[in-house]
Order: sequence, then structure tokens, then C-alpha cells
Amino acid sequence: MGTGHNYHGFPMEILQLTTTPFYFYDLDVLRTTLAEIRRLTADGPYSVHYAVKANGNPRIISEIAQAGLGADLVSGHEIEAALAAGIPASEMTYSGVGKTDWEIRTGISHDIGCFNVESVPELEVINAIAGEMDATARVAIRVNPDIDAHTHKYITTGTADNKFGIPLESLQQVIGMAMSMPNIHLSGLHFHIGSQITQMQPYEMLCDTINGILDQYEDQGIQFEIINVGGGLGIDYDNPDAHPLPDLERYFGTFKQRLHLREGQRLHFELGRAIVGGCGSLICRVLYVKENRGKRFVIVDAGMNDLLRPALYGAHHQLQNLTSTSSDIETYDVVGPVCESSDVFAHGCQLPVTRRGDLIAIRSAGAYGESMASTYNMRSLPAGIFHSSIDK
Ligand code: LLP
Repeated sequence: MGTGHNYHGFPMEILQLTTTPFYFYDLDVLRTTLAEIRRLTADGPYSVHYAVKANGNPRIISEIAQAGLGADLVSGHEIEAALAAGIPASEMTYSGVGKTDWEIRTGISHDIGCFNVESVPELEVINAIAGEMDATARVAIRVNPDIDAHTHKYITTGTADNKFGIPLESLQQVIGMAMSMPNIHLSGLHFHIGSQITQMQPYEMLCDTINGILDQYEDQGIQFEIINVGGGLGIDYDNPDAHPLPDLERYFGTFKQRLHLREGQRLHFELGRAIVGGCGSLICRVLYVKENRGKRFVIVDAGMNDLLRPALYGAHHQLQNLTSTSSDIETYDVVGPVCESSDVFAHGCQLPVTRRGDLIAIRSAGAYGESMASTYNMRSLPAGIFHSSIDK
């Protein structure tokens, strides 16, 4: 892969005129993904809340708002950004282990759909703040189901040894507390087992665990209005052109078949990466090609501050030279300009012969790319540009 200056997915004339590095978003891919999600969730009591942390670009959130999705938020500013994009507060969930008082107040003052509560002290603070505000906060208790999602250790969240959620063995007690608090309305249970999950088996185990919990509480006469299974569906970083969309059919199908929702219950999903990952690429320009002891380095003008995933997780993104016309393939390490040895986008990457001035696309960077960018080394934040074949 990676040849051709006329690669069909990229409007080369626009890319050539834009100052690099920048994020390029293909709105056709985003809209197709959103249409597919709507199609697959239209036949039941399902709500999809976009995890804004994956990409908080206002244009992205507003596309998602227009498609009728809700939002899953992890900070007060994300709540504000989702409101500004037109997502109704009733379609918002607010997650995170460390909500500040201001953030809790922001959520309550807008009467957001649900707080996903991660601990007893947090529950007590939400109850107290809601009391001061003469309000009732709807909460879902985040349960840590101790399921291994078989993903990178930094992005697995549902095992017993990490900071997220309330362990299953404490659930009964916490439910009792929540139900007794005057300014709390217990709406449901929340789960999230990790990210970049490409096998369905962890989700099947999650369904089995939830079914067991629902049986247990039904016997006690406790019903939950909402079951929130979090997000985590992965995308194909290795072959983005073969699979521009994630396997949404199999993902939603797994829950539809395996999770036994009760009468009146709604099932919430909180997808981030699966919605926006495939639509974005980081476009950068080759500054220099240099050789050190027989090893060839391509130095590009994007760095780990623009896209942190390779440096932080050793994540692989496909690289594509958009402008080389060479049919000869060379092996390169593709690195950024930041003064850190981890500022590497790919080791031993096969690209057509690459020269100064070539444009490189770092693919599948729509999720956790722009949103994790920083100004490290006093570099500028990358811009985002949007393209669609049907607008204008
Ligand atoms: N819900 C909760 C409670 C979460 O913590 C997350 C992501 C999501 C939903 C959305 O997960 P997704 O569908 O995007 O997998 N920066 C990392 C990923 C961190 C994910 C954190 N939590 C990366 O670049 O791979």
C-alpha cells in the first residue's frame, strides 16, 4: 500500500495547499458510520452516546449531534462543548473517576441524563451538591466486572486491579446507599471494559455478567431503567482501506442476542473510536530523509505532540506516501521532530522512495489524535480540515 499521487480518498489539491501538519477528516466516512449506527440501533430501546474524548473538534461533535446521537463526557468543558454542538442535556452521560465540584454542578445545572458514578465518596458528593441545588441527580453505578478485554494495558479498564468502577462484591451495598440518598435517583448500571476491542468474546462475557446481575436484583425487586455497556469497539489500524468502518453489525448483534434486557429497560452504548477513528488522517510533510549507519530515516513535520498514540502505546498507524510516484519500495523509520526518542511513527516501514516535500498520511487518526495533541516543544496545535464529496 502507499503508492500513487492520485490516491482516490484524498483531495490532493486541498491537501497540497494546507499548511502541514493537520488533521484531515473525511466526512463521507464519518456520515456513513453514523448512518450505519442509526440503522443498527433503530429496532430497539438503544441509545448511542458518542465518547467526546475521542475527538472534541466542534465540527465532529456537531455532525454527530445532527445524526441524533447523545454524548458521553468526562469533563465540564466536554459538557459545554456537547451543549454548544446541540446535543440535548437529556442525552448526556458523564463518566470519570475524578469529577470536580464545579463539573458536578455543571452537570446538575443542565440536568444531564445521567452521572456514571465510580465510587462511594463521589456518590456522597453528588448527593450533597444536588441537595444544595435543590435538585435530583440521576446516576448509574459503574461496575467493575473484572473482565479482561485483551487489549493494551493502558486502555483496559474492566479488570479488578485498576481504578475504575465499583467491584462486584460491593455493588449491593452501594445500590442500597444510592437508593437511600434523598437527592439521588438510581437509574442504572454502567460498565466499560476497555478500548480497541476487536474480539466479541469479552463483550459476550460482559453480557453474561450483566444477565446474572439483573437476575439477582430482579429477585430482590430492584429494576434498572438503564444498562450502559460503555464503548471500546476497535477499528482496523492495519488495513484501513479494506475496513474503513468497524464491525458495527457484529458488535450490536452481540448485545442484541446475548443481553437479556428487561421490560422497559434501555441499553446505552458509549462508542468513541469506532465512530471517528477511521475518518481522520494526520497529514504531514517530509522535511528530510537521512541515513544513519545504513538505516534510513524519514523526518516529518508532525510529531508526538500532534499524534501521541505511537509514542504512548506503541500504537501502529498505517502510513501512506501520497505524493511519491516511485514504484520502488524502501524501508524507513518515520520519525517526528520532537526531542524524544519515542517520537517515532513507524519502525521499518515500507514506503515508495520518499523525498523531502512528500506528503505522508498517518491513517486512522480520527480518534485520540487531535484530542490528545499538545503544544510540547512549543509547537502549534494541529488544525483540522474537513472534506466531503457531497458538500458544495
Ligand atoms: N466510556 C468510557 C467510560 C471510557 O472510559 C471510554 C474510553 C469510552 C467510553 C470510549 O471508548 P472507545 O469506544 O473510544 O474505545 N487514548 C486511548 C484510548 C483511551 C480510551 C479511554 N476511555 C487510545 O488512543 O487508544
